[in-house]
Amino acid sequence: MDRIRIRGGNKLSGVIDISGAKNAALPLMIVPLLTPETVTLHNVPRLVDAQRLQRILQNHGVDITTAGKRVGQLSAAGETLKISAKTITDTTAPYELVSKMRASFWVLGPLIARMGEAKVSLPGGCAIGTRPVDMHIQAFEKLGAECVIEQGYVLAKAKGGLKGGHISFAKVSVGATHAAVMAAVLAKGDTTIENAAMEPEITDVAECLVKMGAKIEGIGTRTLNITGVTSLHGTEHTVVADRIEAGTYAMAVGMAGGDVTLRGARADTLDDVILTMRRAGLDVTSTNEGMRIKRNGTGILPVDVTTDPYPGFPTDLQAQFMGLMTMAKGKSHIRETIFENRFMHVQELVRLGADIHLHGDMAEVRGVAKLTGADVMATDLRASVSLVIAALAAEGETMLHRVYHLDRGFEDLEGKLSAVGADVSRIAGA
Ligand code: UD1
Repeated sequence: MDRIRIRGGNKLSGVIDISGAKNAALPLMIVPLLTPETVTLHNVPRLVDAQRLQRILQNHGVDITTAGKRVGQLSAAGETLKISAKTITDTTAPYELVSKMRASFWVLGPLIARMGEAKVSLPGGCAIGTRPVDMHIQAFEKLGAECVIEQGYVLAKAKGGLKGGHISFAKVSVGATHAAVMAAVLAKGDTTIENAAMEPEITDVAECLVKMGAKIEGIGTRTLNITGVTSLHGTEHTVVADRIEAGTYAMAVGMAGGDVTLRGARADTLDDVILTMRRAGLDVTSTNEGMRIKRNGTGILPVDVTTDPYPGFPTDLQAQFMGLMTMAKGKSHIRETIFENRFMHVQELVRLGADIHLHGDMAEVRGVAKLTGADVMATDLRASVSLVIAALAAEGETMLHRVYHLDRGFEDLEGKLSAVGADVSRIAGA
């Protein structure tokens, strides 16, 4: 198994290219199941999760080809995938595939919408809490599907197709909103989705669906109104920049110090994060190229943070921000309200010398003057990158084990950080 070695102490300077968002790319790769025509996606990040999803889609009969680079395209640009679900040969998504990646559960919506039936295994994914799918299923039922759970599988049927309905989510869920939208676009009649998630990745997927002929109003708000159409057509779409990757590197610069431009980053998707980073003493500016992050010598200031659905502070940056706070000049409180078990990075940060105490859903972080390198273990995708951030400022060498978690969501992390002066390298495992 690969490991990543980090020797702390280097300031960062230069340019980091921000990749396409994993959390937009994955649902966007599933959207083509809704049409027999080809959907071309640009800027798909080169991630293990995206490769895994390709295999899952191929299992349903989807044809995926990777196009070469276009003239004038930046070397950092992601892949272009041409995805064609002309014929769907299989409406079952088996446990062996879905259990490896939670996002693949989203095939359920498009499969019922287009084929009238689907059988999809209950998902697996990151170990950050129970992560149920009850709200996905309730949404399909409101659209007229009959769903039963049998032997770990959701069996869904909609004889005569899905019908528009009124969906009101009890809480904001990114996954359930994607599921409801993907199903409703081909349902007969009108659908209203209340308390919808409004994350930029939801907007990106909705905008792609509109290009394909879907009728969706209220994009980017808590209420979506969808008028079903009988068919969707092919289109071309570029995956939105990854706000979580951008926020992660911004915090890395905050921790290590320096001056870095995050090329392609979308400051407009990071309002709350930018405000929080400024309070912590980072100099953040929006530029023509993206975002520029500087920290010049001054210490990091403690800031209290509570995770919330967008436009609040993202749970996917909670661990990274805690990494930054470990060396703040004072005490900060970090509350996690989205997932109940998302503090697994705490014990690993403590191995590096951080002073963190957990009180239920709140972590109390007392900034320390010094962290020291150690062996640490990646426990989930975002948790593992918080250890990288802490290690950039730690004295000596940190060895991060179980790097496969990182590879699910960060494209060429060691390459991007090395290019701006960090001492980070991957050691290939047996
Ligand atoms: C997505 C993101 C993940 C991010 C999360 C919250 C992807 C691939 N993943 O995950 O990176 O951390 O949004 O921003 O885009 N819930 C239910 N019932 C359901 C569905 C969800 O109770 O049917 C609950 C969850 O337990 C959680 C909350 O709703 O407490 C939010 O979860 P959700 O937004 O659905 O997260 P994911 O879509 O799994």
